[in-house]
Amino acid sequence: MKKWYAVIGDPIRQSMSPAMHDAWFSENNIDASYIPVHVTPENLESAVKSLKSLGCSGWNVTVPHKSAIIPFLDKINDSAKKMNAVNTVKVLDDGTLFGMNTDGRGFVQSLEEMFGKRKSDSAVLVIGAGGAASGIAYALKEACYGPLTFTNRTIEKAHRLSEDIEGSRTIPIGQAEAEISKFNLIVQTTTVGMNHAQSGMPLSPALLSDGSIVADIIYNPLQTEFLKAAKESGGLTMNGIGMFVHQGALAFELWTGIYPDTEKMIRSISTKLGGN
Ligand code: ATR
Repeated sequence: MKKWYAVIGDPIRQSMSPAMHDAWFSENNIDASYIPVHVTPENLESAVKSLKSLGCSGWNVTVPHKSAIIPFLDKINDSAKKMNAVNTVKVLDDGTLFGMNTDGRGFVQSLEEMFGKRKSDSAVLVIGAGGAASGIAYALKEACYGPLTFTNRTIEKAHRLSEDIEGSRTIPIGQAEAEISKFNLIVQTTTVGMNHAQSGMPLSPALLSDGSIVADIIYNPLQTEFLKAAKESGGLTMNGIGMFVHQGALAFELWTGIYPDTEKMIRSISTKLGGN
């Protein structure tokens, strides 16, 4: 029987996941489809039950349900537990709902696809302290990057995140900006730069060292003001398309056992969004 998969979120219309997974199913000759489902917070529990009873084989979870879905799942893996966030669910053969988080590993895979495996002693600055920062920080730590330094507009949130990550520390935004040349890898995880309402930069990368890697997890626009400024300061830049594609590829692998073609997908999404 044809299998089906989904992505649930609120809003969901903007999601590029259905087109991406459908393309991968077709490329890999898998008889399956993937649909977007609009689920509001008050309907989350019933939506999870319905997806299962209607025979959905697995789904992705996006804003704002990544933490809220956890009580409705049977089992989640360690990294999802640490991050308190799930972005991928698989319905196991016995009906168990298994949740995991592929966001952070997706970031690391995209980093390594673009720049190769980095030295494990690379000093990392993570800008932001929300769910995305947490996922990426755990994955970087797991992959032996570090030491990690956090900075955030609300410094208490960065302190809380840092307390959970052994060997990490927190510095105020002003200090991060002044000392940015000390970092080999800078990861921008805030929502600043995502749209006109949030234009600008979380901090200026003007004092960057030449050849530092600067990543922004935003992919629309393809180049945020922050990435543009980082490039002008001599940084090697990476936008968020790779992370998006690799988090999807890891979900696809969990469902099908196949790691799909990510390079082609990154090129195709970049073109769609106006890049080259
Ligand atoms: P996500 O789960 O996508 O990471 P989030 O948990 O809402 O989203 O976190 C958003 C991040 O963007 C936070 O680090 C937030 O900073 P605060 O903790 O100070 O709120 C950051 N952020 C959002 N708007 C910002 C702004 N205008 N200036 C600086 N940082 C901002």
